[in-house]
Amino acid sequence: MIRPVYIYGSPILRKVAQDIDSTFPDIKQLIDDMFETMYHSDGIGLAAPQIGLSIRLIVIDASPLEEDDPTLKDFKKVFINAKIVERFGDKKQYKEGCLSIPNLREEVEREEKVRIQYLDEHFTPHDEVFDGIPARVIQHEYDHIEGILFTDRVSALRRKLLGGKLSAISKGKFDVDYKFKLPK
Ligand code: NI
Repeated sequence: MIRPVYIYGSPILRKVAQDIDSTFPDIKQLIDDMFETMYHSDGIGLAAPQIGLSIRLIVIDASPLEEDDPTLKDFKKVFINAKIVERFGDKKQYKEGCLSIPNLREEVEREEKVRIQYLDEHFTPHDEVFDGIPARVIQHEYDHIEGILFTDRVSALRRKLLGGKLSAISKGKFDVDYKFKLPK
């Protein structure tokens, strides 16, 4: 089932999300819904707060970026209760976007590598290092479960310039083909 995407200004996007365990109701269906919602909106990552659930659940499918990096062909993963334990390597700029902030893209600086501990969809623990585009997407989605948005990570000047656009977005002044939910 496709779920509506919560838009900039929704309080849930600012909450630190909670860990879950395998007894979480209908977790399989929820993961399926998140992938379906993400594919429907042409996203490559989605975090549960973006569909209105303050839990530490992230889905990523970076295969649409295979052209930029052939190793992404099968990069489809679920991250539950993720914790980034280390960020390292050079800092890189990359133009990010977000389904919760439609039609806005900005250069964001992030470390090129991360070490992350998480549970997969079977609640099996992993401790892995990612770099390149996966590390970029993971850090963006991880921010969502920490209540952070990519627009928080642009320069103070840039953020000031974005103020009007963000306010317009929160009022629904944008055009997208997916279901969404505006802040009250
Ligand atoms: Ni996002």
